[in-house]
Amino acid sequence: MPIRTIIEPFRIKSVEPIRWTTREQREELLQAAHYNLFLLPADDVLIDLLTDSGTGAMSTEQWAAMIQGDESYAGSRSFDHFRDSVRDIFGYRHVIPTHQGRAAERILFHVMCKKGDVVPNNTHFDTTRANIEFVGAEAVDLPIPEGRQPSLQHPFKGNMDVGALEELIGRVGRERIPLAMLTVTNNSGGGQPVAMENVRAVSAVCRKHGIPLYFDACRFAENSYFIKLREPEYANKEPKQIAQEMFGYGDGCTMSAKKDGMANIGGFLCTNDDLLAQQEKDLLILTEGYPTYGGLAGRDLEAVAVGLQEALREDYLRYRITSTAYLGNHIASQGVPIVQPPGGHAIYLDARAFLPHVPPEQFPGVALAAELYLEGGIRSVEIGTLMFGAAAKMDLVRLAIPRRVYTQSHIDYVVEIILEVWRRREQIRGLKLSYEAPFLRHFTAKLEPLEKSEVRAAKV
Ligand code: F0G
Repeated sequence: MPIRTIIEPFRIKSVEPIRWTTREQREELLQAAHYNLFLLPADDVLIDLLTDSGTGAMSTEQWAAMIQGDESYAGSRSFDHFRDSVRDIFGYRHVIPTHQGRAAERILFHVMCKKGDVVPNNTHFDTTRANIEFVGAEAVDLPIPEGRQPSLQHPFKGNMDVGALEELIGRVGRERIPLAMLTVTNNSGGGQPVAMENVRAVSAVCRKHGIPLYFDACRFAENSYFIKLREPEYANKEPKQIAQEMFGYGDGCTMSAKKDGMANIGGFLCTNDDLLAQQEKDLLILTEGYPTYGGLAGRDLEAVAVGLQEALREDYLRYRITSTAYLGNHIASQGVPIVQPPGGHAIYLDARAFLPHVPPEQFPGVALAAELYLEGGIRSVEIGTLMFGAAAKMDLVRLAIPRRVYTQSHIDYVVEIILEVWRRREQIRGLKLSYEAPFLRHFTAKLEPLEKSEVRAAKV
């Protein structure tokens, strides 16, 4: 009989205490943070699920490699390790290190896009969209329709709508589309994977029209494992072989090594185009650093070189995907509405369905996130009306799981807290804004709970 218990495939050598607070303390802390969890001191958080970016635990192999970091300004040995590891998996000719993902995005779009251009993607992450818009181009999301329905089950909800891509190219013309992108996995769409079949189809359309295809590769290892689990012809392939095949259908990528690079900082930009690579390196030197370090220390390059390979280990990926699903399935089985099926790096609570009595303009996602903190010291993040304004199509609360950081008992605790909040959901009230910045307001917004009279007033 196959063994059913999936354990963390590591043991713990170094521990970091986490701090309990009382409910009274959390009430005060939340008020002082104006109900915005970004404004909380991290020490006052018990389980921090704000992001899976840069928050992972490194392995002994990574720490050992870091000690050997070569801090030479030019031609560092650590860059060779980094480039070789990236090339081994991604296969692209030019590997340009950057301090994190958005630095790679800024350089890529600066070199490839101009005002009036259009960039299609399954769904742009916010920094990707912002960097495209910053050069005056338009970022267009083309997820399959199933990707926009939280409760719907589909194995590859991250897929791009290939028909919509063809239609876009026909409508705006190939000349206005300098590149197309695929985000694996689709973070803004619930951490959902893209099928190899979809990658092939998107690549074929791009090749037909001579449009370069780039991957936003942040969670490529998780996406590769989903392909192995859900596309029968890949069942016997190794995650690394799957990743290699996937990247082979593209012309380059941007990457935040803070996710599947298993590092606390780092990123890179890859391309097969010699001319573009030259222009990108020129820009890199201007703001990031010399092309053999790109804003990173030699030791950071070493950590990423090792981390990328560890992220593709099958025992790790099995644990990673299973433990995220464990959280999702345990709350969903009790009726808690989540984006289905569970994603790779996070579970997304559907706050509009969780709190149907709180309308979007009263920020149901923020109210739910605040309640999870009050109940159990858990920090999550709202992805909804506070983040996107009235344009938000959904109000979600993302519980992102840092890599190799929390154990199953931590997750059991999170399940218990969510279910407790679910039981008394009818008592949860919405909030109103007392301060907002002119852009990216969610990071610094201040809110306060609505009075009972205001709740009623808002209802009519
Ligand atoms: N692309 C995707 C799909 C991302 O999820 C992120 C970051 C980036 C690009 C930018 O990378 O942070 O290294 O500059 N996502 C983090 C998150 C911040 O919490 O989802 P970065």
